[in-house]
Amino acid sequence: MEEVKPQLIKITFDGIEVEVAPGTTIMQAARKIAEADESQAGLVPPAMCYYKPLPSSGGKCRACLVRVAQGSAKDPRPMPKLVPSCITQVQEGMVVENTTNDAVLETRKSIVEFLLINHPLDCPICDQAGECHLQDFAFEHGSAKTRYEEERRTFDKIDIGPNIQLHMTRCILCYRCVYTADQITNKREHGVMGRGDAAEISTYISNAIDNEFSGNVIDVCPVGALTDKTFRFKNRVWFSKPEDAHCECDKCSGKAIVWYRGDEVIRVTARKNVWGEVNEFICNTCRFDRKKTSDWVLEGPTKVKRSSVISANKYRANLVPKPDFAMKLAATQFKPIDDSRPYVTDTETIREQSIENNDKANHRSLLSQNN
Ligand code: SF4
Ligand code: FES
Repeated sequence: MEEVKPQLIKITFDGIEVEVAPGTTIMQAARKIAEADESQAGLVPPAMCYYKPLPSSGGKCRACLVRVAQGSAKDPRPMPKLVPSCITQVQEGMVVENTTNDAVLETRKSIVEFLLINHPLDCPICDQAGECHLQDFAFEHGSAKTRYEEERRTFDKIDIGPNIQLHMTRCILCYRCVYTADQITNKREHGVMGRGDAAEISTYISNAIDNEFSGNVIDVCPVGALTDKTFRFKNRVWFSKPEDAHCECDKCSGKAIVWYRGDEVIRVTARKNVWGEVNEFICNTCRFDRKKTSDWVLEGPTKVKRSSVISANKYRANLVPKPDFAMKLAATQFKPIDDSRPYVTDTETIREQSIENNDKANHRSLLSQNN
């Protein structure tokens, strides 16, 4: 029987029309635009909790808020409030504003501020620095100042099994690790306990996640709250060299990224797509135990797809364009030099002065040698 294709829905996102299947979220529609044209990657809303491979993720962090200027062709009224693009489904004729709407960009600054209320600014000692989505989010959308005066909440570090450490102080409660644990285990072993500012990730501590795929919570964590104890403090990520590699593994696909410092394998992670999402979960044996080059068949340098500091120093040919936050910052902080001194513009005088200065410098140098 011939397959009946669902009728596509047309929406306008930041002035660009795109057709998507019914049930698609605004976020996915925006990603479709960027996947068709890389130069449009900047219009995709940031995501701190949504993670496509994890069903039910999204709707927690509000990083992806957008304005729906027209709900649908049938009901063209705008939606009264900004909506999370990762969980809001498109309607025929919907008009969405993201980078084209000042209120959205202004709100995003507040979301960064909100996420940083309790998150420590310990990037210089955090293993996630360089591949931290909150770091990128703050650079691209945050403001340089904070209004927060209260004390940040702090927690002791907790070992979740022998290889994973939970640094709850850094957690932004995105729930990604909870959904990962739900996906890889048959019973609930890990979750968010407590509510409000008492909420925290817990595994009933003593019930450490004892699952062959538990290490994947490290890869899905957008910040440095869940870290690999076999890699902690070994290297800054931008000084390491990632290689795509595979191995014969009877538990997972064996497709991974092997990260080198010189000739030493310092960590193994799953491969990620351009949105920073794991393509395929890898098992703990590949992640924590296969730390020799001879354990792997190397395929070649990893193309670091995500544009952030992690792209720096990574096989020059594969460098992705630098994020434009640096240019934006330079543009806002640029100050013309206020200098009213009279300047010599005549080249002959400049040449003479230069010779004179040079002679004086040589004379000073001779004097200091004789003393
Ligand atoms: S530990 Fe990481 S992945 Fe888990 S909820 Fe906190 S920030 Fe999200
Ligand atoms: S990414 Fe949409 S609410 Fe977090």
